[in-house]
Amino acid sequence: MRKKIVAGNWKMNLTFEEGQQLTSEIVQMYKDEAIQEVIVVLNPPFPHLYPVKKLVGDTPGVAVGAQNCSDKESGAFTGEVSTKILASFGVSYVILGHSERREYFKEDNTLLAAKVNQVLAHGLTPIFCCGESLEIREAGTHEETVKAQLTASLFHLSPEEFSKVVIAYEPIWAIGTGKTATADQAQEMHAALRGHLASKYGQAVAAQTSILYGGSANPGNAKELFGKPDVDGGLIGGASLKSRDFIEIVKSF
Ligand code: 13P
Repeated sequence: MRKKIVAGNWKMNLTFEEGQQLTSEIVQMYKDEAIQEVIVVLNPPFPHLYPVKKLVGDTPGVAVGAQNCSDKESGAFTGEVSTKILASFGVSYVILGHSERREYFKEDNTLLAAKVNQVLAHGLTPIFCCGESLEIREAGTHEETVKAQLTASLFHLSPEEFSKVVIAYEPIWAIGTGKTATADQAQEMHAALRGHLASKYGQAVAAQTSILYGGSANPGNAKELFGKPDVDGGLIGGASLKSRDFIEIVKSF
């Protein structure tokens, strides 16, 4: 059975102390409320990663992820962070291809393919984001657009490599806008993506790939989203900054 995952993307938010407090609360609630079947991934800004990992420790079911990484192995790349560094203190996931990175930092499919390779080379799990703009959705070409993003940055992988990848579908028009995709729209896209994976890697690999939904997910709509057969979890922005909201989303399965 494929994994259920709820990842919190803190983006560029929270001071050191706020991050420590949020992490402690989430870990405590996760344990106290006996959550077991859902993997939680906390993705804070880089400076938080080490202290957050310290607080999380070896708590089963709770993992720590980065929001980005370098496409290079190591060396003179001022300001960059390698997956080797991340792996060395227990970071186990990296979000790649987020629309904010594609748009504001001009990350393209080729660069993302190189980052995917780095993440896999060091035994981490990429959470690979894809999604369409409102313009593309209105033009009706959203499925082919999103499939093309996967093809360009992931389909060079062997089936064995690909089986370690997590996908996150994040329609750009739903991110931070309060305008969630309906559960039916999410299901339609997730099923289309799974079909695309099956055509490349076969049914077995497609069936075990976790596909998360992201975009204005909150405690009020998570249950309906997670109730869909091809929605295997969420990548949560704003609502991941409040421990109770985040845990309620996790408990919506
Ligand atoms: P919001 O949940 O704030 O819409 O953000 C979604 C997102 O971009 C997660 O990566």
